[in-house]
Amino acid sequence: MSFQPRSEGLLMSRLHQRTSASFLSPVILLTLLLSSLASGQTNFEHPGYEVDPQRQTTGIGKFYMGREISFVMGHQAAAWLNRPDRIEQEQPDQVVENMNLQADHVVADIGAGSGYFSFRIAAKVPDGRVLAVDIQQEMLDLIDQQQAQRGVSNIEGVLGEIDDPKLPAESIDAAIMVDAYHEFSHPFEMMAGITQALRPGGRVFLLEYRGEDPDVPIRPLHKMTEEQVVKELSIFGLEWTDTLDFLPWQHMMIFTKPE
Ligand SMILES: C[S@@+](CC[C@H](N)C(=O)[O-])C[C@H]1O[C@@H](n2cnc3c(N)ncnc32)[C@H](O)[C@@H]1O
Repeated sequence: MSFQPRSEGLLMSRLHQRTSASFLSPVILLTLLLSSLASGQTNFEHPGYEVDPQRQTTGIGKFYMGREISFVMGHQAAAWLNRPDRIEQEQPDQVVENMNLQADHVVADIGAGSGYFSFRIAAKVPDGRVLAVDIQQEMLDLIDQQQAQRGVSNIEGVLGEIDDPKLPAESIDAAIMVDAYHEFSHPFEMMAGITQALRPGGRVFLLEYRGEDPDVPIRPLHKMTEEQVVKELSIFGLEWTDTLDFLPWQHMMIFTKPE
């Protein structure tokens, strides 16, 4: 299922950065530079966003590295995240098993929603904790309610911002994003924050519906190709370590922050 070796992916990413940057107006470039300086994210080169109503399809009309960003799923649809057939479709227990976590790990579940993965991860890190990050307080409230009902105490809700996961530097062993990254309105700032929050050797698990596969019955902007994910994450110096393809509809991609 891999499309090319990792090193070529990195090269492609660098080329793409240069190409997309050359189309940006000085005003947009200046805005990006200022926002980058303001957020202290000077280590990573911002590839730029484009807002183009002409190209808008079913997303927000904002493009990142050639991809249109999706709308955020509202908390009103939280019950859909817990639908019974999701067990078969997304095999959450096998996903968490494949994270190979240690009992004391600190894991950030970014875009945690109703905690569908947070609770499964919490059971694997009894001496550690899960930081359930979401931008919707209503989602964090759902997680809190369930914690009380289930007697779980190692999940901490973190109210993030659209451009900041609100995680301290080098504080997490792993970050997981399931069906969430494609709807981040500021993917560059989010990934910069996540990369900084990872300890050296820490891992990112990114799960998205397979964009290459027309048989996956999900709307296009809610899918991502492996190639696109590698392109977007490589700019942070993360190493694409593996892609596990045991899931019926999704890629489980693993990236590692160098030691
Ligand atoms: C489709 S839901 C998936 C929830 C969960 N990961 C799951 O698999 O059940 C996506 C979640 O990402 C959250 N989200 C969107 N943008 C975000 C951001 N910038 N930071 C954190 N969470 C975000 C949304 O609020 C929503 O709860």
